[in-house]
Amino acid sequence: MAYLVPVATMALMAISVALILGLVKNLLTVEGEAKVKIVNDGNELVLPLEQNLMQALKKAGYDLFAQCGGKGTCATCRVKVLEGLKPEQITPAMLGPLSDKLRKEGWVLSCQISLKNDLKIELFKPLVMGWPKVEGKAEEAPKAPALSPAAAKLRAVLPGFDCLACGYPTCEEFAEALASGKAKIDGCYPGGKPVLERLKQAALEAGVKAS
Ligand code: FES
Repeated sequence: MAYLVPVATMALMAISVALILGLVKNLLTVEGEAKVKIVNDGNELVLPLEQNLMQALKKAGYDLFAQCGGKGTCATCRVKVLEGLKPEQITPAMLGPLSDKLRKEGWVLSCQISLKNDLKIELFKPLVMGWPKVEGKAEEAPKAPALSPAAAKLRAVLPGFDCLACGYPTCEEFAEALASGKAKIDGCYPGGKPVLERLKQAALEAGVKAS
């Protein structure tokens, strides 16, 4: 019978360790959900906490460009947070290459956000392909600045998303930079090959030496 004491002690110790490990795991695992209200279409997603916002949006059918694949360098996944993100929660990674103007307007990179609480967001509409529910009237196009004739030709074949992926705040500025030889002709990543081909043709017609 004497051997039963150490066996029982060891069993008790094993159970205690298992209980402690279970407790620690529970403490470390964040459980719960957050609601993400999308003002563009009124949709409300219920998502697990700590989920990456960009991935969750894509999974829900919002086909964001997310050109850099979530590295936080292209700004094409940006969303404007209208509610639920306090200034002290915003990290430098969430702002990435966004211009001061966009930062002030409340845009952040969705690929750099893991959900901590409910959010109300606006998606950058032109970047959303395969839009699930497109309703309402079209937004008024912003007034384009006057461009040089060559830049105007180049601008005419750009998508007009102002996505920042080329490094310029607007397609107009990219076109002007192309026309003056400061930008590379393959800078419009979202446009891909079709836009590149059209840009080359437009550059030829406008007498722009493209590189
Ligand atoms: S996917 Fe490129 S910055 Fe988010």
